Amino acid sequence: MKDFLWWRDGVIYQIYPRSFSDSSNDGIGDLQGIIEKLDYLQALGIDAIWLSPINPSPDVDFGYDVSDYTGIDPKFGTMKDFEHLVKEAKKRDIHIIMDLVLNHTSDQHAWFLKSKQSKENAHHDFYIWKDPKPDGEPPNNWQAVFGGPAWEYDEDLGQYYYHMFFKEQPDVNWRNPEVRSAMLDVFRFWLDKGVEGFRLDVFNAYFKDPEFKDNPPKFGIRGFDRQEHIYDVSQPEMYPLLEEIRTIVDEHKQSYVVGETFLADTQQTASYCGNDKLHAAFNFDFAENRWHPQRFLDSVLKWYDALAADAWPNNFLSNHDMKRAASRYCFGEDDSRAKVALAMLLTLKGTPFLYYGEEIGMRDIPIRKRADIKDPIGKHFWPFYKGRDGCRAPMQWRNAPHAGFSLAEPWLPVNDNYTKRNVEMQLSDPNSMLNFSMKLISIRRSTPALIRGDFTPLTEQPRFILAYERQYEGDRVIVILNFSSRLLNFELPKGGWTCLLTKNTAYTGKISMAPYQVRILEKKV
Ligand code: GLC
Repeated sequence: MKDFLWWRDGVIYQIYPRSFSDSSNDGIGDLQGIIEKLDYLQALGIDAIWLSPINPSPDVDFGYDVSDYTGIDPKFGTMKDFEHLVKEAKKRDIHIIMDLVLNHTSDQHAWFLKSKQSKENAHHDFYIWKDPKPDGEPPNNWQAVFGGPAWEYDEDLGQYYYHMFFKEQPDVNWRNPEVRSAMLDVFRFWLDKGVEGFRLDVFNAYFKDPEFKDNPPKFGIRGFDRQEHIYDVSQPEMYPLLEEIRTIVDEHKQSYVVGETFLADTQQTASYCGNDKLHAAFNFDFAENRWHPQRFLDSVLKWYDALAADAWPNNFLSNHDMKRAASRYCFGEDDSRAKVALAMLLTLKGTPFLYYGEEIGMRDIPIRKRADIKDPIGKHFWPFYKGRDGCRAPMQWRNAPHAGFSLAEPWLPVNDNYTKRNVEMQLSDPNSMLNFSMKLISIRRSTPALIRGDFTPLTEQPRFILAYERQYEGDRVIVILNFSSRLLNFELPKGGWTCLLTKNTAYTGKISMAPYQVRILEKKV
């Protein structure tokens, strides 16, 4: 396609580096492991890799607690390995997106260690320190996402510091100009290394209310959910900062920033996207839908409607924080629904994000005992919530020990289904999820209407079949997805249509849709 722009027209693939491929055989994935799999990713047909954090981290939150923004954690390799990865990826037209966790650092970051040395210290104001209330209580009622109050008392300083997540993840003070400029330098550093995109972790939490007012109460089960989060997230100061970030990123042609909005509805999420803001933000409303075509349709229409004319949509169904789509929607090992979901993701209007293993229909691993849990929030909230280990298990490459991920015992167990569900076996099975994924990605790539086309629903209030048309410069493609286990009929729009999945069959009028069938048809000209 002419004027193909990778972040708008391509497919983005999220890698959780701990779990992708372990070349050093210590049970933890690494950069060299990713390099070894680039040919696979190229064959899959993706255009960019979003790497979950690879900066040095004490791993209280598995990389989302960074102790050095411009380093590479030795467990993943060295800066040389990273440069090698960028180079090898570039050779294959694969772009690299770094995950920047700039709302908070690790409590082991040099800034924080200095910050808590004294109140007079030059770095003290790099974080959010507050005196106790006269009765010794925390400065306000704010709660931490991961449980308990968001304020941690430091005996030596006699002050509290603020942490939206774990106490080992102190929030930085973005209102301090030195912090702001140091953080903006982080973008420049990675852009200079050849990185072309960023994923901003919980960016709309950077700024808090300047007066630290109490959040109003609301009905909810646990502390954090029992407040209206109007003062601890989504403050207006974020907009000018996004402009500044965008200016830096735009100095590098075709570079990209996507933000993870936190506690934001579709409207709020969309408000951060546009020509002088983020290129995109994640629409959780779509990803969190239950299995019903109407739900998905409502979500995307809301999303398209909320986005300004200068913003391009994106869509995802899985990531490292939520149960995998295949685990949420499928029955056992049956991939029918996973195929429908994937076909939807790859044919809707908007850049699709795939989560590693989604292409082979990987399922979450079961979490049976608290003692087995690695994710600290799973330990904390057990048994009500078991944390995020389920979706972070090692990639299933082969029917070999540890699924070919590593020669050593992996940091999380491999799903038992790896003997049947793995890349190698699926490659040789024409009906596999992987071959379906590859085919869809390649159809998408060679069909401009699927990449850039307008979106028109063909089903009103769908209960079983979701159908929509994509049109671009006179090309028309329709996608028909049977969300149900029933055999149904579907009335095609006028004219003759050719099937892109099975090639060269002409259709007109009423067609039958087998249970969970996916059809992608192109207008015959
Ligand atoms: C984001 C990340 C999540 C992390 C949290 C705190 O939501 O996606 O994994 O735990 O931020 O950094």
